[in-house]
Amino acid sequence: MFEILVNRELAPGIKLLEVKSPDITKKVKPGQFIVLRINEKGERIPLTVADKHPERGSLDIIYQEVGKTTRELGCLGKGEFLLDLVGPLGKPGEIAKYGTIILIGGGVGIATLFPYIKAFKKAGNKIISILGARTKELFFLEKEIENLSDEFYITTDDGSYGKKGFVTDLLKDLTEKKIDLVLAVGPLVMMKAVRQITKPLKILTWVSLNTIMLDGTGMCGSCRVTVGDEVKFACVDGPEFQADKVDFDELIFRNQRFSKEEAISLNIYNEKCGNKRCPKN
Ligand SMILES: Cc1cc2nc3c(=O)[nH]c(=O)nc-3n(C[C@H](O)[C@H](O)[C@H](O)COP(=O)(O)OP(=O)(O)OC[C@H]3O[C@@H](n4cnc5c(N)ncnc54)[C@H](O)[C@@H]3O)c2cc1C
Ligand code: FES
Repeated sequence: MFEILVNRELAPGIKLLEVKSPDITKKVKPGQFIVLRINEKGERIPLTVADKHPERGSLDIIYQEVGKTTRELGCLGKGEFLLDLVGPLGKPGEIAKYGTIILIGGGVGIATLFPYIKAFKKAGNKIISILGARTKELFFLEKEIENLSDEFYITTDDGSYGKKGFVTDLLKDLTEKKIDLVLAVGPLVMMKAVRQITKPLKILTWVSLNTIMLDGTGMCGSCRVTVGDEVKFACVDGPEFQADKVDFDELIFRNQRFSKEEAISLNIYNEKCGNKRCPKN
């Protein structure tokens, strides 16, 4: 059992969960994730480790309440427990001195980007960060990321904050300079659009793929993705891959394969809860 130390809202529908797990905290590296299960009837969901606190033996997870399990997670409070926490899973990111790196975070992908920014900065790189969200209220970790960045940009779809438009609009301008690496984390369509800009320019680009994962150990095949001519499993071969070879169209299609069941499950949960967001945290 894994004790919850904090579970609080950072932005509407986005929460920070600090959970005690000294073993995972000791081993986890940027880009790695855990799979958690709330209780015996719960589904297993993968979430990135956004930060760690060795002094408390705990790790931070930042999650968006998008469906039944993340909504249920949002209703747990300090002092309650998670049944299972497995990790660290996935390959750690390749942290080194590349030169100038553009790091792009879209939506809750900003959570996955944060440990990379810290590690790349420590490795001596010049950091250009671009954060994007639908609207102003949805940003989190903004000050922390700005403080680590040599250049820092914000975009919103509705223009309520920063530059109006998508992260890719800014990326186009920024790639006029010499860029050694781009790392993008966010919705699949965003990562695909980033690749469309960087591929013709031959800029090394990595993406962190949020495929549907079940066991997280390479056994079930759920997270299958085509990369070049090869079949890969994002949970053990990734989640980070070189963007130019990823078959995004296949992945976008495969990620929708349980949409009907997910909607039914959320409806049942909403009916049980009277369609209210949990007020506890
Ligand atoms: C390696 C990895 C790291 C991730 N890190 C984060 C993170 O740090 N913060 C965050 O908010 N989200 C993260 N996700 C996505 C997160 O796992 C899903 O949002 C979550 O599983 C949704 O579950 P649900 O029951 O609340 O929603 P559901 O209604 O079941 O699903 C909503 C959407 O979430 C996705 N999803 C559903 N089940 C899974 C699953 N088992 N595995 C992966 N995706 C699923 C699907 O795209 C689905 O359409 C990550 C996914 C992966 C693969
Ligand atoms: S989640 Fe089962 S093989 Fe990757």
